[in-house]
Amino acid sequence: MKTPRQRSTRWICTVGMVGTVGGLLGLMACSHSEASRINASEQTPEIPPPSTPPPPPGETFEQMKARLEAEKPFYMDRQRALLEARYDLSNRPGRVKMTRGKPIQAGVRVKLPPGQTWPQLAVMTPAEIRAADVFPAGFMPLPHPKQLEGGMLFPHFAIEEILAQTGRDLQRFDLEFDLPDHVLPEFPPAIFLTTRLDLGDVSHGEVVTTHNYYRLFKDILNTKQLDGLRLLVSPFAQQQFNLIDDRRSAEPQLGVACLDCHTNGHTNGATHLVGDIRPQEQRNRIETTSLRGVNIQERFGSQRALMSVEDFTQFEQSAAYFDGDIDKAALKGVNPLDPISQVQHMAEMQKLFDFPPAPKLDVFGRLTSRATAAELRGEALFRGKARCAECHSGPYFTDNSMHDLQLERFFPERVVNDQVANGDGPIKTFTLRGIKESPPYLHDGRLITLDDTIEFFNLVLELKLTQQEKADLLAFLLVL
Ligand code: HEC
Ligand code: HEC
Repeated sequence: MKTPRQRSTRWICTVGMVGTVGGLLGLMACSHSEASRINASEQTPEIPPPSTPPPPPGETFEQMKARLEAEKPFYMDRQRALLEARYDLSNRPGRVKMTRGKPIQAGVRVKLPPGQTWPQLAVMTPAEIRAADVFPAGFMPLPHPKQLEGGMLFPHFAIEEILAQTGRDLQRFDLEFDLPDHVLPEFPPAIFLTTRLDLGDVSHGEVVTTHNYYRLFKDILNTKQLDGLRLLVSPFAQQQFNLIDDRRSAEPQLGVACLDCHTNGHTNGATHLVGDIRPQEQRNRIETTSLRGVNIQERFGSQRALMSVEDFTQFEQSAAYFDGDIDKAALKGVNPLDPISQVQHMAEMQKLFDFPPAPKLDVFGRLTSRATAAELRGEALFRGKARCAECHSGPYFTDNSMHDLQLERFFPERVVNDQVANGDGPIKTFTLRGIKESPPYLHDGRLITLDDTIEFFNLVLELKLTQQEKADLLAFLLVL
């Protein structure tokens, strides 16, 4: 794996870098960036996008690229201002590590509104929080860096590794991924196969792509599964990455593979917008879910409640890849998957990705005598006062259902960076097995650490947990 390269310097707005075509826009972007910095001290900066003229008719690919590149600093600056206003994104590793050694970030990272403390907020009713407008902004929906355009966005380390191995470049010229590396899952993540747990991590520290999948798996999978894995690493044309002029990569690209986001059957934190909500402002940002443990799940997608991995696989290809835009899909090269020979194989392979080991849990998902006193207290809270197990139930900590957390109790609807922020409606109860390995949290990745999720549920479920209880609950979540 290459050494991760920080690209944050590209966010800095420099007029000098903007070409002649985008000169004026560059200036606009800079002045808007100043505005966004000023607003960053507010809870939810609301900054309109630059008023770009509609694309001239007959605009060439090169002209479109220059136009969108000139707008890029505005969007990245605005997003950074939003993130800085909402979160402490510093690199503060805790003592616990993911399977292959990446440290888990510690501490509550969601910032409090001025003058508030967590205990103060916790004694207020939802109506009081809403009336005083003190629901922390980091608990509200997180917009896509360019909400009105959306599309797939990959962290730089995934782009670099896929490019190095396969020559396929998933860099967009109009946008960069927005969250820093240290708040994302480890890369590459470990792979555990339900069929060969005896082997432990079978990734051998490699990112599985078209170029190494056969070497890595030929001796431990059957040919049907190998074919499924081949399809999961094969690029399929997609809205932003394709062979025609309507793309967001500098050069034509064959497309995106399932495992470009679900790296090694887990996740690298890549993001896009949910496919089936309109208009664009209403669409949820979604953070790539892990495929670990899909075999025990009964519904798929945070909101769609598709009932099988097979349906979801077909759906990802036919709808999510093209934002539900069927006209463009035909031109860009939609790749309908055959249900019997392809979808079945891909689904079978996905169902082999297991959760990472949890040596302190027994067959019922209960702590064994290896657990510490704090972990045991945390488990008791999880099933008792904190009420987590009422939804995160059973050995895999999910009821395989959806729940509406009714966040609109805490804040009135508003528009933040072109996204309508509201209560999200029913969302899937994600499993909590292996949860420490898949930050950031919630469907849109709005929470950075597990500590944040505890503060979130403490308010949302009106639990009134003490500091000690929060610490115990965290100790429990870290062993799942
Ligand atoms: C841009 C990154 C990206 C790519 C590429 C991608 N996915 Fe996903 N995948 C996601 C996101 C984000 C979700 C969560 C969807 C939601 O919340 O509604 C998801 C969800 C899923 C789920 C449901 C998991 C669950 O627990 O609910 C399955 C199954 C899945 N993807 C399979 C695939 C397959 C098969 C492909 C290739 C055809 C693919 N994905 C390509 C990002 C991606
Ligand atoms: C009423 C049902 C319900 C209860 C009770 C509940 N949760 Fe959840 N939990 C959910 C839902 C639904 C989501 C997904 C929300 C979203 O993505 O917006 C979720 C998401 C999470 C996540 C993030 C999962 C991921 O993959 O990003 C964590 C961590 C979590 N819950 C922990 C807890 C803890 C700890 C408690 C107890 C203090 C708790 N939950 C209580 C329903 C519940």
